[in-house]
Amino acid sequence: MSEIKALRSIINNSLDILEDELLAAGLPDLWVAKPQMHPLDKPDYLQTPRLFEARRVILGACRMLAAAVQPPTEKIIEEGWAHQRSQALKMATDYNVAGVLADPSVDPEEGIDATVLANRFGLSPDPFKREMRMLASHHYFREVAEGRFANNRVSMSLIPPYAAPYAIRYVAGWGLTVAHRVVDALRADQPRTAAQLAFNFDTDQFAFLEKNPKYLEIFTSAMTGCYEIAAVGLVTDFPWKNLPKGTTVVDIGGGEGGLAMSIAKAHPHLQLIDQDRPEVEEAAHRMWKTHTPEIYNEGRIKFQSYNFFTPQPLKGEGIIYVMRCIIHDWPHDECVAILSALKGALNPSSRLLIVEHVIYPPVMPKEKTPLLLGFMDNSKPYAELATPWPLPNGPQVIELTHDIEMFCNFKAKERTPAEWDELLGEVGMKVVKIWPTRSEFSIVEISLA
Ligand SMILES: C[S@@+](CC[C@H](N)C(=O)[O-])C[C@H]1O[C@@H](n2cnc3c(N)ncnc32)[C@H](O)[C@@H]1O
Repeated sequence: MSEIKALRSIINNSLDILEDELLAAGLPDLWVAKPQMHPLDKPDYLQTPRLFEARRVILGACRMLAAAVQPPTEKIIEEGWAHQRSQALKMATDYNVAGVLADPSVDPEEGIDATVLANRFGLSPDPFKREMRMLASHHYFREVAEGRFANNRVSMSLIPPYAAPYAIRYVAGWGLTVAHRVVDALRADQPRTAAQLAFNFDTDQFAFLEKNPKYLEIFTSAMTGCYEIAAVGLVTDFPWKNLPKGTTVVDIGGGEGGLAMSIAKAHPHLQLIDQDRPEVEEAAHRMWKTHTPEIYNEGRIKFQSYNFFTPQPLKGEGIIYVMRCIIHDWPHDECVAILSALKGALNPSSRLLIVEHVIYPPVMPKEKTPLLLGFMDNSKPYAELATPWPLPNGPQVIELTHDIEMFCNFKAKERTPAEWDELLGEVGMKVVKIWPTRSEFSIVEISLA
């Protein structure tokens, strides 16, 4: 079978399954044009395993189909211009264009003339119209009549509290400036990170952000938004519910406690301890008091100032350790130091859960693996489907881009399963199981070797 025929069949079959799953859940078909979010867009909507996998496979197959259909030079030029798209999204976010278009006084089908919008924002009308037009050509807004723009489902996600505007502020601001120096940072004799080169600092990035509250705020709110979307998968697709009552989850480098809070809400039988730098503690107390006063007042969450380069003070039975997005922020030697500082606290039955983007090299299967989506069972725990031929492993566009981002910011990385084995082997630990979740993150369950 040719690649393109296989892709057509994968897309058709997966679309049928997507439709069945939506019907079974009593949900309407997906759309682009209508300026409303779909129920699936709610950050806490838990998709069935079949629905989650159907969407993942369709996206992967559509990307590959486009690569087959589009002339290669055109694809490269189009994607090389991604910075224009990202800056146009930044402009739309900075001026809250979607929010203005969503005002109840605006007819959602008629939209607003670009000149009226531009005058309101103090922007030049003609280039503003052209920026909006470029965004509309990528389905970020609609051009409903020449020069008139309206929201669609995609642009509605640019309105807070959705995560997208926070992510764009980070990606298209800090991220773009840093990416500009990535080629310099790749040089074998270059000791500085792309971020250090771009912003001219020599400390670690957390220390730099601490001294630059503007960037710290952008960084923190982007992370919070992305974590929020992942929470429902993370609290469902690991068997937290089977942990004995009273087990203490120690969230090492837990920040303000976003992950601990999701676990505490979903699993009332667990106790939580958030360990982080002393600078974070005040904000963490504030966040828990505001968002979950009952858990805070019950004392089910505790805070501990702790430097994760020093020996872990909490040890014994009934403890499970968690690190989310910690190891991927540090170069290799520091990763070894952080894990070694924990090791002394572990006994043979202890578990460490590392929550990160586990990456899978996008290798194309050699054998003609079929699409097994039709056999997936929603009543079973979530397990990732093997991607069918000709799709490469994945598709993990977001995860693999994060990997580069970690290099740019920290000379650090996301890891493949083999790289996890290697790192953990160095410190006398091993992978027990990698739990994929219905989110961009996996949970790597680790014990002493
Ligand atoms: C990317 S954030 C992840 C936060 C949290 N784990 C989450 O997933 O929401 C990294 C965290 O590591 C913390 N951190 C950095 N250096 C640390 C250290 N030496 N000891 C303890 N925490 C540290 C930072 O304060 C920050 O909260």
